[in-house]
Amino acid sequence: MSAVTEAATALKFTDRINRIEPSATMAVVAEADKLRQAGVDVVDLSVGEPHFSTPQHIKDAAIAAINNNFTRYTAVGGTIELKDAIIQRHAQDFGSAYKREEAMASVGGKHVLFNAIQVLVDHGDEVILPVPYWVSFKDIVRYAGGNCVLLQSDEDEGFRVTADMVARLVTPRTKLIILNSPANPSGAVMSPEDLTEVVRFGAERGIWVISDECYVYLNYTGREFSIGSLHEQRDRIIVVGSLSKTYAMTGWRMGYALSPAAVTSAMQKLQSQSTSNPTSIVQKAAVAALKGPQECVAEMRKEYIQLRDHVLAGLRSIDGVKCAKPEGAFYVYPNVSAFFGRGGIHSPADFSRKLLHEAHIATVPGEGFGTSEHIRISYATSQKELDRGLERLRKFVGSL
Ligand SMILES: Cc1ncc(COP(=O)(O)O)c(C=O)c1O
Repeated sequence: MSAVTEAATALKFTDRINRIEPSATMAVVAEADKLRQAGVDVVDLSVGEPHFSTPQHIKDAAIAAINNNFTRYTAVGGTIELKDAIIQRHAQDFGSAYKREEAMASVGGKHVLFNAIQVLVDHGDEVILPVPYWVSFKDIVRYAGGNCVLLQSDEDEGFRVTADMVARLVTPRTKLIILNSPANPSGAVMSPEDLTEVVRFGAERGIWVISDECYVYLNYTGREFSIGSLHEQRDRIIVVGSLSKTYAMTGWRMGYALSPAAVTSAMQKLQSQSTSNPTSIVQKAAVAALKGPQECVAEMRKEYIQLRDHVLAGLRSIDGVKCAKPEGAFYVYPNVSAFFGRGGIHSPADFSRKLLHEAHIATVPGEGFGTSEHIRISYATSQKELDRGLERLRKFVGSL
């Protein structure tokens, strides 16, 4: 139990708040910040956000919104203009056909997931979750009272998840399957065929499927796909989208859901009693992002592919480091278990901590993502910074 959770228990906070932990990635950021404040030159490979700046036309739209006094409350799920922009972008890129009552905007993709899981998952419900998982899925499900049924993927298969693997875990209590392709932290991509098959058998059994598509534009397989395009089964599908990674807008907080009207309406009800609408100014920026030129997305994707290849080659050239090839997103998930038993290291947390304090590289230990041999490295940074990190890592493991 963490110190925070212990204090909360002593103060008799609710069961539901005691069921969850602070995000593992946030803990690393805080520790790296402390070192930086003390004047240490930290190579930060921990953050899950683009190193690019938000494109100028998006920033201009926000500035214009302020100057035009577009600064009041809007409809809880966003303006009609924004909903239409979300629907049109998705239709154009993936061939979906959603209606206005099936679209809503929230304060980031994480907020969409929170809304959706609170609406769908009840106490005792089972939720199938592939491992390694993005840290927040598990805690949001637990907050809702659900039980995560973990699907172990195989590192030697690039952590790929197939429909068969998902089907094997279905029980009469399965309420929801959470998919994230491309995935954080593994970068694994599910094939369109497997995604389609999961949705098909989910629909047959009345199981909901959440598809977290925050990295859908950072798919390097050349087969970009959204389950939102599966019109016939869309009664059970919730597509979760985010502008954070696609348009380098992490701090703006804008995400969206495309889901059946009844789900959308329930999520809007919940949002009406929490945040209300996402920031009005950000909604205008989001419209500019979704309706404006999309070259920026393609350019960023091109650079991420180069960075992926660069960091992968660098890591694989270090003795003892094993690393699966990610097919999307902007993370690599190397296996560092070869170093366990050396220099007092027995876990990814030990490895990451020592790496931060001795080599001044910030990474995220794999425990938070549900595995016990890996660390997560974000390559959303300059090649120069990656090279500095790789060099320090090489020296660090060489000294163990
Ligand atoms: C898999 C995944 N889903 C959702 C999110 C949330 O993104 P945001 O809330 O910034 O849209 C992230 C952010 O790192 C993520 O990695």
